[in-house]
Amino acid sequence: MIRLDKYISEHKNITRKEAKTLIKSGKIKIDGKTVSSPEYKFDETAEKVSLGEKTIDGESLVYIIMNKPAGFVCASEDKKDKTVFDILPQSLKRKGLFTMGRLDKDTTGLLIITNDGELSHRLLSPKHHVNKEYYLEGTGEAAENAPELFEEGLSLGRLKLKPAELKIISSEKGQTKARLTISEGKFHQVKRMMYEVGVEVTYLKRISFAGLSLPGDLNEGEARPLTEDELKILKQSAL
Ligand code: URA
Repeated sequence: MIRLDKYISEHKNITRKEAKTLIKSGKIKIDGKTVSSPEYKFDETAEKVSLGEKTIDGESLVYIIMNKPAGFVCASEDKKDKTVFDILPQSLKRKGLFTMGRLDKDTTGLLIITNDGELSHRLLSPKHHVNKEYYLEGTGEAAENAPELFEEGLSLGRLKLKPAELKIISSEKGQTKARLTISEGKFHQVKRMMYEVGVEVTYLKRISFAGLSLPGDLNEGEARPLTEDELKILKQSAL
């Protein structure tokens, strides 16, 4: 048995409060009968919930934004480490979720978690050149021509990278702070690129992905559903 407001909020990807308002407006029916109390409990496996002419059922698509803390891996399960799914609030947990791309265990910042395989595939496909911006700190001073090297497309061994934008914030006394925007997602890409120009990354945070910036009010370890406007931005990047 599940509460109606919980069911609606999960299946329509809206907040509990919005679900309550929707239910109270008298637009929700269970097996054809209007139910306007949010706390009503029913058997989701046997009864059909509808909104207007449409049935609300099946797995709805969900899009979650997380400010990933360090110390968690982007995997559905891990024998050794805790995963980002371990810190997802209960209300956002469901089967079939995965991360859109991966951040290293020690990387923090913007991470999208979803069950929309198609959108994820499009955003991660090399064809779409989706930009990801990182803030980094590291030891060592960056080579003076690092921004030009990155702009031309750095070679990592036999791997030729796409052009990237490096903005040095400071690089002195053996310490560097910078922002780097890349459009690919190769293994440890930022750390390897920076290493190539003399900087060993000690702190890495993703601050934007596919046109979405990490919201200032989303603290490390927190996650929430994307707003409609944020989802529009993501979808736009996948066109
Ligand atoms: N590049 C890295 O080196 N690590 C990340 O987690 C993301 C990009």
